[in-house]
Amino acid sequence: MEEAARSRLFSPLEAGNLSLRQRTWVPAMVPWRATDDGFVTDEVIEWYTRFAAGRPGAIVVEATGIRDVPSGPLLRIGHDRFVPGLRRLTAAVREASGGCTKLFVQLIDFLAIRRRPPRTKFLQQYLRITDAHRRALGVHGLVDAEVRTRLAALDDVELARILSPQELQSLHFGYRERVTDMELPHIRELPAVLPPLFADSALRAKAADFDGVELHYAHAYTMASFLSRTNTREDGYGGAREQRVRLPLEVLAAVRARVGPDYVVGCRYLADECIDGGSSVDEAMFFGVEFARATMDFISTSRGGKFDDAKQPNVGAAAYPYTGPSGYECMPQYISERGPFGRNTEPTAQIRRAIRQAGFNTPIVCTGGVHNFEMAERLLTDETCDIVGAARQSLADPDWFLKLSRGEGRAVRTCTYSNYCEALDQKHKPVTCQLWDREGLDAPGVALTADGKRRLTAPPRQASGEDSQPPSAILQRAANQPGRDR
Ligand SMILES: Cc1cc2nc3c(=O)[nH]c(=O)nc-3n(C[C@H](O)[C@H](O)[C@H](O)COP(=O)(O)O)c2cc1C
Ligand code: SF4
Repeated sequence: MEEAARSRLFSPLEAGNLSLRQRTWVPAMVPWRATDDGFVTDEVIEWYTRFAAGRPGAIVVEATGIRDVPSGPLLRIGHDRFVPGLRRLTAAVREASGGCTKLFVQLIDFLAIRRRPPRTKFLQQYLRITDAHRRALGVHGLVDAEVRTRLAALDDVELARILSPQELQSLHFGYRERVTDMELPHIRELPAVLPPLFADSALRAKAADFDGVELHYAHAYTMASFLSRTNTREDGYGGAREQRVRLPLEVLAAVRARVGPDYVVGCRYLADECIDGGSSVDEAMFFGVEFARATMDFISTSRGGKFDDAKQPNVGAAAYPYTGPSGYECMPQYISERGPFGRNTEPTAQIRRAIRQAGFNTPIVCTGGVHNFEMAERLLTDETCDIVGAARQSLADPDWFLKLSRGEGRAVRTCTYSNYCEALDQKHKPVTCQLWDREGLDAPGVALTADGKRRLTAPPRQASGEDSQPPSAILQRAANQPGRDR
């Protein structure tokens, strides 16, 4: 307990707009609990209030869509109608943490991705027949339907010779839009469209009483694709690193202009893309300095998680960016020789050093495999980062920071990095942890998955109770607030 009291981990942080009671951080994790229309549910509130009961310095709410378009049970913030539900969420988290935890929301834009189609359906319906196909088949003048029939009769090797690389990719992996698809008007216009979309959403986050926003510039999504070395756009937003960082900076400027100079605006981006031909830590150092110069209030690093090297999905399933080698770097499993530990440490330290050398004191959040006090504390004393993020460990034991701060480290339920939770995410099923989701299923008031087989949040901490309120009491009060979404 004394060690914890003296530690960096449990010391406050004040830097620019960011003020935390301790340097502990629960990064964004999508739990698949929103309604199909993207509204906050009681299950969303229970998920976040359960983390809040452990009183981390900050929680980042899952990737939340900035567009007003259907996107399944993922939270959305692309219209004012989402604000009342989100406000119910912020109020409940504030109450559950006793006001100790800052709550940020991660703002995301993503491009279209479709499931891998059956071969016949792809050739009969999805493929757009062009003269390139007629030329390759040597059938000038044939109507589309006959070209399709000819293509369907080919074996895989012959077909691969006729389809373009991108068509072949759509056949084998499912169609996916890229920021380089300049023939598509809505992709061409992204640099004009995205800054106001992010800015409007950030203003809604402020109206919903979030303490700040995290711009999602990481993994497989639109903004990360602009930063990527694979971005070859020729409109001034691709190519050289100065051009690739342009849109992320323009988004930040638009957000800043909308929410004002005092509101917390940070971002999450990749210390290393971990793909062939992708951006490495040298470029991430450059981006980090540019973000700091442009008044980002915090910078949180991740790594990998790209579509570029994702495994081929089964027919009928969509590619998942955490299945290939870069996905492994993002959320490594215990089977790794090096374990899932510390992979993001050195690149993050390099980024932080570059930012400090450029004269900025922007706080840096490092995440990846952190699961005990010594490791977390070392990241701070080694000056790898200023704040320590732990995603899966916080899911395995949402009270773990609280336990550590009270010298109850032995009572922590340690994550085994089995990636059972990640597999649920991949299947778009409610995310739970295998260390607790079968415990006490028949206890009164326990919320279960639709099949009744898993509890949705970790069992309550067995403790003095001085600081923990039953989630049901918080939910009841949240339910009585205006703005219930369902
Ligand atoms: C179920 C699940 C959902 C996740 N969703 C997000 C997300 O919405 N946004 C994000 O930036 N990272 C997301 N991540 C990645 C984590 O924030 C974190 O970077 C990763 O799990 C590695 O950290 P860890 O070793 O502490 O778990 C998710 C991870 C998991 C396990
Ligand atoms: S399911 Fe496995 S990887 Fe996920 S939080 Fe639990 S123990 Fe950790």
